[in-house]
Parts: sequence; structure tokens; C-alpha cells
Amino acid sequence: MTAARFITLEGGEGVGKSTQLRRLVERLRERGLEVVETREPGGSPGAEAIRRLLLEGADERWTPEAEALLFAAARADHVARTIRPALARGAWVLCDRFLDSSLAYQGGAGGLGVEAIRSLHAVGSRGFLPHRTLLLELGAADAARRLSVRDAGGSDRIGGRGDDYHADVAAAFSALAEAEPDRFRRIDAQGDVDQVTERLLGAIKDLL
Ligand code: TYD
Repeated sequence: MTAARFITLEGGEGVGKSTQLRRLVERLRERGLEVVETREPGGSPGAEAIRRLLLEGADERWTPEAEALLFAAARADHVARTIRPALARGAWVLCDRFLDSSLAYQGGAGGLGVEAIRSLHAVGSRGFLPHRTLLLELGAADAARRLSVRDAGGSDRIGGRGDDYHADVAAAFSALAEAEPDRFRRIDAQGDVDQVTERLLGAIKDLL
């Protein structure tokens, strides 16, 4: 049997992450694998409660430090209650965002620095890392176009931040991928959905 794997999808707003995660889950299930599909912030009852604190309300609701701690607390609960137990029983876990989002958003764009975020993760989740992280990348103009279609109803506290913030997020993600080439695969999110799904599958082929 294929060893259980923890795979994360990362990227900025509007890159098609959630759609692609669903498609990837389906493709793995077709192969007979048990797959747990989850997301952050959230993925366990406690973490879903924290998600509402993080994504609702005014942008200035939390200081950058408190925001980073809340993400780390949500992740600690998610790892302990959902991810580790699933892997222990042999299931694959596919997660929409994980630690790298905190590194890019709070650490990079938010200015706290990646080392501070890694320390929070060391305490909260004992430094637990994915076997593979798939970074979906799209030019800023294309991402904005996709978002304007999807978010006609308005975006959340963090998604609604300015273009400079989101450009810093994208730069931070690409630096993270450069620094950890064994764990990361950079995926071009341009093109039709089927093509992108094939690229993602190709990037985990060695784990199957
Ligand atoms: P979500 O609705 O899941 O957005 P998306 O579809 O873009 O994934 O909202 C998650 C938001 O929270 C998104 O703006 C990214 C942000 N975020 C962080 O800032 N840090 C984190 O550690 C995580 C997991 C998410």
C-alpha cells in the first residue's frame, strides 16, 4: 500500500487552489486511496471557531502578533485532532493552505518575519511539515481577474488587503519555494482546469 502522505496546496488569492484541491482529491480517490480533504484556517471544530475570529470583522481587529498566534493556535488544533490521526490510520491528507500561508502572509507581507512564525509552529504543532507543498502561481493581473468574478460579494479580512500586501505574499511564497526545493513544487496555474490538475498530479507522482 502507498504510504500515507500529507500534501498542501498554497498560493495567493484567486489562483484556483480550492477547485484544484477538490479535483486532486477525486483523482486520488479513483486510485482507491482514502483521502481526507481539509483546509486552513479550520479543519477541526476548534480551528473552525478560530477561523471566524480571523476572517470576520475589520482589518484592524487583531494586531499582527495576535493574528499570527490565532493562526498558529488553529493549526495546532487541526494538526492534533484531524491531520495526525488521519495519517496514523493510513489516509492521505490534502489541505488547502497550511504553515506556508502563515510564513508568506503574517511572516512576509505582515512583517513579523518567517523565523518568528516558525517558532510559533514549533510550539503549536511541534514543527510538523507536509511531505509535499504544491504552490500554484498566477500573474497578479490574472489572479485579480479571477477574483473579481468569484468575489462579487466582497472578500474577507485578509483577502481584502491591498495590492501591495498581496504582491508581498506572492514574493514570499516564491522565496519559500526556492529555499525548500525538496518539499515544494511550483505549478503554473495558467491554462484550463484539466491541464492544471495534470500538472499537480505530475508533481506528486513520485509519492504514489
Ligand atoms: P479563505 O476563504 O480560505 O481564502 P482562499 O480561498 O484564498 O484560501 O481564507 C483564508 C484567508 O486567510 C486568505 O486570505 C489567506 C489567509 N491566511 C493567512 O493569512 N494565514 C494563514 O496561515 C492561512 C492559513 C490563511
